[in-house]
Amino acid sequence: MPSLLANWTSEDFETLEKGVLVANHRLAETDLFTDDALAAIFDSHPAEHLGINTAGKSKEKFDWRAGNRNGVPGDELVQMIREGHLWINCRRMLDYQPEHAEVIHSLFEELEAGATHFTAEDRTANLLISSPAVWVPYHVDMPVNMLWHIRGQKRAWVYPHFDKRFASSAVLEKVCSGEWSEDVPYDPSWDKYALVYDVEPGQLLTWPQLAPHRVENTAGLCVSLSTEHKNPRARRRLNVHTGNYTMRERFGWPCQSIAVDGFAAHAKQFLSRVDRYVGKLFGKEKEQWTYPITFVLDPSEPDGFRLIEGVEEAVLAVHEQAEELVGAV
Ligand SMILES: [Fe+2]
Repeated sequence: MPSLLANWTSEDFETLEKGVLVANHRLAETDLFTDDALAAIFDSHPAEHLGINTAGKSKEKFDWRAGNRNGVPGDELVQMIREGHLWINCRRMLDYQPEHAEVIHSLFEELEAGATHFTAEDRTANLLISSPAVWVPYHVDMPVNMLWHIRGQKRAWVYPHFDKRFASSAVLEKVCSGEWSEDVPYDPSWDKYALVYDVEPGQLLTWPQLAPHRVENTAGLCVSLSTEHKNPRARRRLNVHTGNYTMRERFGWPCQSIAVDGFAAHAKQFLSRVDRYVGKLFGKEKEQWTYPITFVLDPSEPDGFRLIEGVEEAVLAVHEQAEELVGAV
């Protein structure tokens, strides 16, 4: 397969997982992301791995929602995304879309070949197809995350990584333990610390693990591939946060350090794994929090969906809880 990375320097490879990187790729030159290809993905992808979401119109208010496809065929769904206010996530592309999987593994292998410090284990990939003005709220991703932008234009804000002012220890513990989704408390005054990028098709944007970020689409039907991976250090980083969670919740002993190297980090990883194992043994495994279904797709509506009445209370309660932790250490 011809190289899918374009004009990468040794500094680009060296920056992977260590800093914020913008670099070029050739995914947009393949025929894997045309309207027809997207419709075929929608029609072949397992329903349980096709996330249907919307974000609300006002950026002042957190209003992320999950919805039901309501039987809409693939080609019509592409058109509804182009004209409406929708954000679709085809999860587990490596498992269910073999042609895309070949290309994605090839990308990872090029990265591993170019950067000696870089290994991509536990690989996953999500294809994000979203409306011209939809947006994704401030959040973190637990694995190492890379955004390969392919169609449309988006603006991304990336906030300082490993900095507790933007995602406190208490917040990351809740996310990594699965108690919360990856949406974390946000204060607009933090924007002055963010790096802001207008991301064009053919650009990759990536950042260190758990760096908070948010994205707004600015033009056109947007298509991006979001790849995720882990490696021993990335797994340890998550286990440090779940180890801290275990110490705080089980023993009332909050630990402020989020260091990923050294004896304490390895001890927290051990504690976290033992806690998970014991949880499994007693059938108390924590499930990752998921959004309830609060809308259905509807081609007759201008934004492509209508809300389901009477399921609002649970969602609002979770958002209020999250707001209480803004600023918590
Ligand atoms: Fe993300």
